[in-house]
Amino acid sequence: MSRESSRVGLVEELTRGGYLSPAWRDAFTRVDRKQFIPDRVWIRSDDGYHPLNRTTEPDRWHALVYRDQALVTQVEDDGPDTALIPSSSASMPRVVATMLDALAVADGQTALEIGTGTGYNAALLSERLGDRHVVSIEVDPLVADTARANLKSAGYFPTVLTGDGGLGASAYAPYDRVIVTCALHTVPYPLVEQTAPGGAIVLPWGTGLYNGVLLRLTTGDDGTASGPVVGDSAFMWNRSETPHRDVMATVKEQDRTTATRTRLDPRLVFGDENAAFTAGILVPDCRYSVGHGPDGEFTLWLADHATGSWASVDFVPDSAEYDRRQHGPRTLWGEVEAAFAWWQSAGSPDRTRYGLTVNAAGQRLWLDSPDTLVPERR
Ligand SMILES: C[S@@+](CC[C@H](N)C(=O)[O-])C[C@H]1O[C@@H](n2cnc3c(N)ncnc32)[C@H](O)[C@@H]1O
Repeated sequence: MSRESSRVGLVEELTRGGYLSPAWRDAFTRVDRKQFIPDRVWIRSDDGYHPLNRTTEPDRWHALVYRDQALVTQVEDDGPDTALIPSSSASMPRVVATMLDALAVADGQTALEIGTGTGYNAALLSERLGDRHVVSIEVDPLVADTARANLKSAGYFPTVLTGDGGLGASAYAPYDRVIVTCALHTVPYPLVEQTAPGGAIVLPWGTGLYNGVLLRLTTGDDGTASGPVVGDSAFMWNRSETPHRDVMATVKEQDRTTATRTRLDPRLVFGDENAAFTAGILVPDCRYSVGHGPDGEFTLWLADHATGSWASVDFVPDSAEYDRRQHGPRTLWGEVEAAFAWWQSAGSPDRTRYGLTVNAAGQRLWLDSPDTLVPERR
């Protein structure tokens, strides 16, 4: 297969898979992903991320460019004992296509993108709406400069700003459409303020326990934006609110703990995407990690770094109860049990039944209708 036919092949693959709508097919055909992928990308294997260089492995590099796969384009090194962490990427093409479709743009509309990354999505928006109608913001100056260069050499000239996308870009507002390409937990109100009434905001939304879902909010003329979960979507976090990464940094073996047993099988919560999503809403500021043992045994760790609270549950197959330890001002496993009980009492709803309303006072999750608010942790 020639390299050019691989590019067409990606468009065909996305179309066959039902990810690429007719409204975006021309843009995906014209914008070449290759022009936005750096010569060095980072590939994940069992022991972390490793570089793959175009110069030394050109065929492999080309194959990856036209594969329906996310490509990590930048990693951060937090020190000799920690693994490399991705900090920028070219999103999976099917995710790009799905989000642009959810945006439902029309000719003549303006769009704001948060998280320019490689510039590929900004090029697609520019191809569809015109350069003058597209503004994109990237927080990382080096990434923003590279995106500008990529866009220029591909012949696109949207406005690319360097800064925190959570502030939006009021100088160019209002926007008909806002698309966020990093995971948010708290939707910054400037994005609502800068979207025209009747406009739409498409954003990945997640919690420390579940990252995440795709939300499509519609703005009213009363300063609010509200809308449902429309799918799943896992993105790297908004750099302004990245949850504390290392669960085990909070867990200290010398901490005093209360040890009891729990009857709740951790797999019922963390092995069920809908239960895990709900737990993430009701048990905020909490992350988890799993340590696997022999014969199907594992330990689930929960941690809230800010309060130093942590909990662990030791799962043993065929047991009716599991050892549980908790430390700190929050009883995190108790919160998970309460969240799971609430989810069951609500009829074990699918995550697509939830939605979010954002106004000047903050944001609230709802179930089925904006009038039925999900209880907040007190
Ligand atoms: C998944 S990548 C975006 C992919 C991009 N849309 C593309 O087409 O290649 C996420 C990007 O969001 C950026 N980012 C994270 N937090 C941000 C923020 N608060 N404001 C602007 N950009 C942010 C990251 O630096 C990263 O480049």
